[in-house]
Amino acid sequence: MDKILEKLMGDIFTSALPGIQALTGDLAPFTPFTLYPPRLDSKGFYLGRDNIGRPVYLDIDALPSLHGVILGTTGSGKSTLARHIALEAWKKGIKVWVIDPHGEAQYRRIILERMGGKELDLSVNGFDVLNHEGWVRGDYAQVLSEILVASYSLPELFVFEVKKRVLDLYTSGTEDPLLEPLLSFQGDEEVSSLVTQNLYVTMRGLGGRLSLQRMRVGAQVLLARLDGIMRSTPPSHTTRLLIIMDEAHNLFQLYNGSFLSQLYRESRKFGYSILSLVQIPSFLPADIYALAGFMVYLSGPKEYVEELARYSYLTRDNIEWLLYRVRGNAVLSRQGDPRPRNFTVDPDPEAL
Ligand SMILES: Nc1ncnc2c1ncn2[C@@H]1O[C@H](COP(=O)(O)OP(=O)(O)OP(=O)(O)O)[C@@H](O)[C@H]1O
Ligand SMILES: [Mg+2]
Repeated sequence: MDKILEKLMGDIFTSALPGIQALTGDLAPFTPFTLYPPRLDSKGFYLGRDNIGRPVYLDIDALPSLHGVILGTTGSGKSTLARHIALEAWKKGIKVWVIDPHGEAQYRRIILERMGGKELDLSVNGFDVLNHEGWVRGDYAQVLSEILVASYSLPELFVFEVKKRVLDLYTSGTEDPLLEPLLSFQGDEEVSSLVTQNLYVTMRGLGGRLSLQRMRVGAQVLLARLDGIMRSTPPSHTTRLLIIMDEAHNLFQLYNGSFLSQLYRESRKFGYSILSLVQIPSFLPADIYALAGFMVYLSGPKEYVEELARYSYLTRDNIEWLLYRVRGNAVLSRQGDPRPRNFTVDPDPEAL
């Protein structure tokens, strides 16, 4: 027992030193070592500065996954920070996809003009929806049918029926009107070639605005295609592609075990990561917060900050910092580090 305690205390002590493995968040509240400062990363994505002017980085190699969440009430700077992170990732050779239901001009400009990427306007063009590369056909039909049923909030018992019709479509080519929302995204783009490019996915483009249900179907089927493709490439422990989901709560259903949770559950061994932007923690399923490699909380009103503190371990100091409501005040929380770090976002001017 003494040996175990000694080892534990040793681990805790070394973990409190900069640059060395951190202790777990679960232990932190019970040790006097919570008085130690947060881990200081000195490489990775530059995010901003702390209150004494030191640069704050997100060391992407030190995280168990690069899946992340940015939380902030409306106007708090989520999209600005996401664009900044997109640029940081791009500078490191990581490809970036932005799925933007809002259709914000700045995202488009960054991906198309700065990164030389392309646009996929799902209101006018689509992709190879029925190509099930990387999936067993029956499993892909199952996922498509779950996406359709959940996006339209149909009773779950429809999943079986829709799956049957998807499989019929593969075997006999019979197009069923029930599958129209899925097939409306059928188009010229090949997702296997999109994964090697920077991509701006818009849903309120030239063809007009898509309904929320359609947006969900389009975004999720695209991710299902991506997931299959990435799984069929050789395993990679570095992120090759970062997917930024603005308004993620609108694009996914809010239950544990949903498609989004499944994607977060996968480690980064398939070479892609997801960064979701959300306004309020309860808008995403709770398991996402346990699965994300990092989270950034932006400052906001008391009710919002109180809700954050229920989802994540925050110190008094973090809470006060977030309550200040100065634009750019943020807290960085990393999996495996019990000491979330206060900082001020210092966005690339192009991200503004
Ligand atoms: N760190 C910052 N420094 C200075 N200005 C900022 C910063 N972050 C955001 N802004 C400005 O604040 C405004 C709102 O930012 P942004 O659109 O990123 O917020 P948001 O959280 O995405 O809002 P919404 O929920 O409405 O999408 C923008 O005009 C942006 O330029
Ligand atoms: Mg925004």
